[in-house]
Amino acid sequence: MQANDIEAVAAVEKAAAEFPWPQSQFEESFNSDHHCTVLEVEGVVLGFSVFSHAVDESTLLNIAIYPDIQGKGYGRLLLSSGLQTQQQQGAKQCFLEVRVSNVSAKKLYGSLRFDVVGMRKNYYPAKAGREDAYTMCCDLSDNTLVVV
Ligand SMILES: CC(C)(COP(=O)(O)OP(=O)(O)OC[C@H]1O[C@@H](n2cnc3c(N)ncnc32)[C@H](O)[C@@H]1OP(=O)(O)O)[C@@H](O)C(=O)NCCC(=O)NCCS
Repeated sequence: MQANDIEAVAAVEKAAAEFPWPQSQFEESFNSDHHCTVLEVEGVVLGFSVFSHAVDESTLLNIAIYPDIQGKGYGRLLLSSGLQTQQQQGAKQCFLEVRVSNVSAKKLYGSLRFDVVGMRKNYYPAKAGREDAYTMCCDLSDNTLVVV
């Protein structure tokens, strides 16, 4: 991700997420040491991922693919390449939170060897009150990531 991608990234997030991060949150991530990556298709930003990392632990903070091109393998490509980068930078585990209702994201994470390791009650805002999140973890210590 480059600084001039941030507006397009925020637009992808707004189109894809029910409770989107504001553009300022992407700017904050970009200006910190978060690992921010864009997916470009024919020069257009249509997806992104944001990871944080500390010592040997990585966290996937956000990922989205523009709705019109979801379900075509781009999310898997973006996440698996992000995990490989995290692994190369020394991460032994990657954690994330996902809404319990987010079927496609849970399937994607499960297919890349994330396991549910916990639950956070009322973690996310929802249309009616709050929604629980699963905490999921992927073991990156064995050098055998799923590669697309
Ligand atoms: C979650 C998201 C990033 C997945 O990206 P994607 O490009 O649509 O996913 P892919 O096409 O790479 O599919 C990967 C796997 O996800 C699952 N999946 C994708 N779309 C799905 C759908 N509509 N229904 C059910 N499962 C789906 C499938 O298991 C698929 O694997 P398969 O093709 O072997 O069956 C994307 O749907 C998205 O941006 N969602 C909105 C934002 C979001 O929820 N982000 C996650 C926050 S935790």
